[in-house]
Amino acid sequence: MKWNAELYDQKHAFVYQYGESVLELLDAQPGERILDLGCGTGYLTQQINDLGADVVGIDYSPEMIQKAKETYPEVSFSVANASKFSFTEPFDAVFSNAALHWVQDHDSMMRCVYNNLKPGGRFVAEMGGKGNVQQLIAATKQVLLKYGYSKQAEIMLWRFPGLGEYTSELESHGFRVTFALHFDRPTALQDGDEGVAKWIAMFGEQYFEGVPSEQKQLMLKEITELLRPTYYKDGIWYSDYKRLRFIAFKEL
Ligand code: BEZ
Repeated sequence: MKWNAELYDQKHAFVYQYGESVLELLDAQPGERILDLGCGTGYLTQQINDLGADVVGIDYSPEMIQKAKETYPEVSFSVANASKFSFTEPFDAVFSNAALHWVQDHDSMMRCVYNNLKPGGRFVAEMGGKGNVQQLIAATKQVLLKYGYSKQAEIMLWRFPGLGEYTSELESHGFRVTFALHFDRPTALQDGDEGVAKWIAMFGEQYFEGVPSEQKQLMLKEITELLRPTYYKDGIWYSDYKRLRFIAFKEL
């Protein structure tokens, strides 16, 4: 998937604004070596850098990494696959915000994180948890089916695991999970009545592959209207985000 890094920064700032509270969970210390996994355009990587840590940001998207390098030339960034990366020097911590739900192979990703941490190192992350954007996905699939796009309606773009299943997976990869939380966080969308369509254009474009542009606009309006009763409150559109956070240590 090709990312529009400009649009991401302009319209989806909430991704990293909320990420600042995940940074508190990371509690980065000066001099620590930290990996930001799925760093996007690098805003939080830069914050970790400002805390005095020795940070590296990696992302699968070359567009995101190019933007990150342009914006924060003093920080180290590179394109890498979350399930296949390897560094010569291990990390004190691996941090990830709003990225892990894009990973296809969580088994390999957890193995990579484990192998690239120092003994006693920590994996601190937030991702979409079970039920995340469930209403948005259901409305999108309903409209795709109505218009005869049954193949697109079967697409599973993301994995949103439950707390029990994910912490068990972490444990089976050698981590000791000391904190995990699964909570609702309705998240305000920008651009008023256009907000749902803009979110889908940014993150769910694959659902509309092969759909003519005029029809797509019509479908996005229908999706928006299906969501209005639950998404629209007091003049603001909120997406049904559910977050999964955890801290997991590589056992000594
Ligand atoms: C999320 O942060 O929950 C999310 C972002 C993009 C696509 C799907 C989920």
